[in-house]
Amino acid sequence: MNNPESKNKIELLLTEEKIMQRVRDLGAQITADYQGRRLHLVGILKGAWVFLADLVRHIDLEVTVDFLGIASYGAGTTSSGQVKITKDLDQSIEGLDVLAVEDILDTGLTFTYLHKMLSARKPKSLKLVALLDKAERRIKPVQADYVGFTIPDLFVVGYGLDYGQKYRQLRDVCVLHPTPEDAGIATAGQ
Ligand code: PRP
Repeated sequence: MNNPESKNKIELLLTEEKIMQRVRDLGAQITADYQGRRLHLVGILKGAWVFLADLVRHIDLEVTVDFLGIASYGAGTTSSGQVKITKDLDQSIEGLDVLAVEDILDTGLTFTYLHKMLSARKPKSLKLVALLDKAERRIKPVQADYVGFTIPDLFVVGYGLDYGQKYRQLRDVCVLHPTPEDAGIATAGQ
């Protein structure tokens, strides 16, 4: 576990090995569930790109990939549910079996918005896979169809997840305890 920001304390939550095993299992489950169909993955930027890159290599189907860039309006450590599109999808999802890929499902505000927005584009089906699920934090009654790990209400970084845009490159998922002077710069979403 490397810590590029050594002044903040981080502790290990999920090892690279544990994550990779779970990603392999999710890939196998998705492959079985969508057998004989083409699957269109939609990665929700930024956090999901590391997870998506690993997951797609464990899905043995005809797969296409697109990305949706979003940012939550407002500062603070929780998402507001007000979502700004920073990069729209490159192609239409009409008639496609769409699997949205998220790094983390927290309050559910973001995916509630995204589900409405994506459903309006008439996909054949729309499901969600989230690597991490902070189920106890849910405000909206949204559930992922596939979950990697249900985790407690801790601020986590690594494997795509950030704190002030940093730490995304950590291979493990870690709990971050920011120094007092660094606290308050967290991005929305946790
Ligand atoms: C995270 C995550 C989800 C959202 C979930 O994104 O990727 O999109 O928060 O939170 P919610 O369930 O409470 O709405 P974040 O805002 O951290 O942006 P990022 O993906 O660019 O890091």
